[in-house]
Amino acid sequence: MAENQALSDVMSRRGFLKWALGFSVVATMAGAIVPIIGYLWPPAQRATASGGRVLVGSVKDLPVGQAKVLPVNDKPVIVVNSAAGGVKAFSAICTHLGCVVEWNAGKQFIQCPCHDGRFNPTTGAVISGPPPAPLPPVQVAVESDQIYVGGA
Ligand code: FES
Repeated sequence: MAENQALSDVMSRRGFLKWALGFSVVATMAGAIVPIIGYLWPPAQRATASGGRVLVGSVKDLPVGQAKVLPVNDKPVIVVNSAAGGVKAFSAICTHLGCVVEWNAGKQFIQCPCHDGRFNPTTGAVISGPPPAPLPPVQVAVESDQIYVGGA
């Protein structure tokens, strides 16, 4: 009788070890496969409630000679109010290696802090430095003294 009980304990231990081994194999496989699936099928981009259009603020909040970098649909955009060109918006991602550009208020141009690329605040064109292309323009609208960027 005691031998049967001991045999039963061994079998249950073996059963448990088989189950634990199977579980660890499945968990390891899931840990490897889930990131691959996530890479192959990334989640869809979320649309903003306003259809991609973002309120920057009042024109008074962005006086002539100033600029602001803000996220629009999860991407940085620089909105510039220049004396020569009025309110303009461009992608704030440098066309050289992708750093986020800044506004140089003292010299009145858009500047990349990484390799000193410089861009025209009216056209987005490259003034100097390594960027190979101008900053892509982003749609901007001024309605009732409110500045909106992005959208259709
Ligand atoms: S990343 Fe902007 S100049 Fe190099």
